[in-house]
Amino acid sequence: MQDVQTLIQKDRIPQHVAIIMDGNGRWAKQHGLQRMFGHKQGVQTVHNITTAAAELGIRYLTLYAFSTENWNRPQEEVDALMALLVDTIRKETPTLMENNVRLMTIGDLNRLPELTRQKFVECLEQTSHNTGLNLVLALSYSSRWEITNAFKRAIDDAQKGLLTADDIDDVKVSAYMTTAGIPDPDLLIRTSGEYRISNFLLWQLAYSELYFTNCLWPDFTVDEFYAAIVDYQHRERRFGKTSEQVSKI
Ligand code: IPE
Ligand code: IPE
Ligand code: MG
Repeated sequence: MQDVQTLIQKDRIPQHVAIIMDGNGRWAKQHGLQRMFGHKQGVQTVHNITTAAAELGIRYLTLYAFSTENWNRPQEEVDALMALLVDTIRKETPTLMENNVRLMTIGDLNRLPELTRQKFVECLEQTSHNTGLNLVLALSYSSRWEITNAFKRAIDDAQKGLLTADDIDDVKVSAYMTTAGIPDPDLLIRTSGEYRISNFLLWQLAYSELYFTNCLWPDFTVDEFYAAIVDYQHRERRFGKTSEQVSKI
């Protein structure tokens, strides 16, 4: 069988790939382990996919790491996940530096425990001059939180006289999102066989290509990632136009 990597068209690499990393708990269960082992194994996948994305020349990789709704999980799991984040940042920062990766975050960082938040801020600063892949971690993030927040900030600006109704168009709305300045995802991948968006980037995914795989996140290999990109490269993105219109470009 042909190596899937060789099927990737180098001149059509998506600029921005977003991933809903799902299935850690089920992976652990399949292996007779506690859920946290699935999360730990999932970190290894994050490492592999980030490295592969950087090598491919993808500009933005956004990973859904912890949702607003995930705060409702058992406290023990939440605490363990927060500790795992600290540990991961500590271990992975040298790799980010080596691969010229800049860390960014979206989400309500104020809800994170102080130590976790601090570690993130340190890593954000340390990697801020890197010019390769932008790794965007969505942490305590949900789209409805983000949109609610955007409304609040816009109303605040309007009250200060900085914004009027006539100023508002879709570019302006995007600027009020936590993803301001980041292009919309070209490709969204969700692992674990769930066919839902789970409150992720609802505004930004308007025209993204969607790719679902049954693979659980800890089992998601670099070759599976390449396969998703090859699949994406065979899609025709029409943005509401006809096929004839877009194929002329
Ligand atoms: C995704 O895996 C990681 C997080 C949401 C933090 P899950 O923990 O949701 O795994 P499943 O869906 O229970 O298998
Ligand atoms: C989505 O996974 C959130 C993350 C991957 C961080 P969930 O496991 O929380 O989503 P649902 O509950 O299956 O929709
Ligand atoms: Mg899940």
